Amino acid sequence: MTTALSSMPKAELHLHIEGTLEPELILALAARNGIAMPFPTLAELRAQYEFADLQSFLNLYYANMAVLVTAEDFADMTRAYLGRAQASGLRHVEIMFDPQAHLLRGVDLATAVNGIAGALAASEAEFGISTALIAAFLRDQSEASALEVLAELLAMDAPIVGIGLDSAEVGNPPSKFVRLYERARDAGLRLVAHAGEEGSPSYVWDALDLLDVERIDHGIRSMEDPALVERLAREQVPLTVCPLSNVRLRAVDVLAAHPLPAMLAARLNVCVNSDDPAYFGGYVDSNFQALVDEFNFDADTLATLAANSIRSSFAPEERKAELLAELAVWRAAQA
Ligand code: HPA
Ligand code: ZN
Repeated sequence: MTTALSSMPKAELHLHIEGTLEPELILALAARNGIAMPFPTLAELRAQYEFADLQSFLNLYYANMAVLVTAEDFADMTRAYLGRAQASGLRHVEIMFDPQAHLLRGVDLATAVNGIAGALAASEAEFGISTALIAAFLRDQSEASALEVLAELLAMDAPIVGIGLDSAEVGNPPSKFVRLYERARDAGLRLVAHAGEEGSPSYVWDALDLLDVERIDHGIRSMEDPALVERLAREQVPLTVCPLSNVRLRAVDVLAAHPLPAMLAARLNVCVNSDDPAYFGGYVDSNFQALVDEFNFDADTLATLAANSIRSSFAPEERKAELLAELAVWRAAQA
């Protein structure tokens, strides 16, 4: 099954590029930039990857970003992800980056944007993967900060397709960012937001009603609210689900308790994503493999998940049609 899974054409829509920094690359970049790290050996660093919740992960995730200094660092990180994405059968990826996290530690926007966008620009030719870039704002920072950074991104004509909202969810509801999303919509940007990862279903309602987002990142806690499930099914709102992330951050106890099968049964528009693969035990192919191992998903279910990822993307319609046709060929080749 492994070979078939990694040859299944698909898109990844929920991926934090800073969450693809593997421990080996962290230490290599630290050495290249002469940065002393708190956990200077692979063994010491790897020992930190046990998380109790979202915040305990975020602490390590932000600390490890210290090694990203030059545009070349951002480009190397992005290229490493694209290579891994190619191996897992991804044909289109939409990656988030955290501009404020870099600004807060003194790395300017142009360095991050040029490094990431430079690697993405070569992706179709180098890896056969089409791409889009999403600027994610830190919901535990102020809306004023987000508005300032969005204005800077627009002024520099950064090649972003949309905005997202990430970091510590509980206590930082969508209502805090109404003006940010208005401003982004006026600028012609696509809108997504994390909601219902650790936060209650009200965060999903508010992301839809107050921010007018087109996609919800995570959204698993929606299953606690039957009226919300009914709406998500009726409107076919895409939910970018991240199974291994949810296990590692203890949003669910074990994979067997993950709501994805119930979400599929409720006819929700779900797809499978890796979130922060260097931290959560695997890339998108590992997420699919874990689902097959746990739930015994058949080829039709896998193809539904892949088709959802392609249809829910911000890729041009011709690209979606091309990838859906590739997926149909893959499906026909399965027993
Ligand atoms: N959740 C919220 N914020 C994040 C995540 C996540 O999984 N990864 C990076 N920022
Ligand atoms: Zn995420």
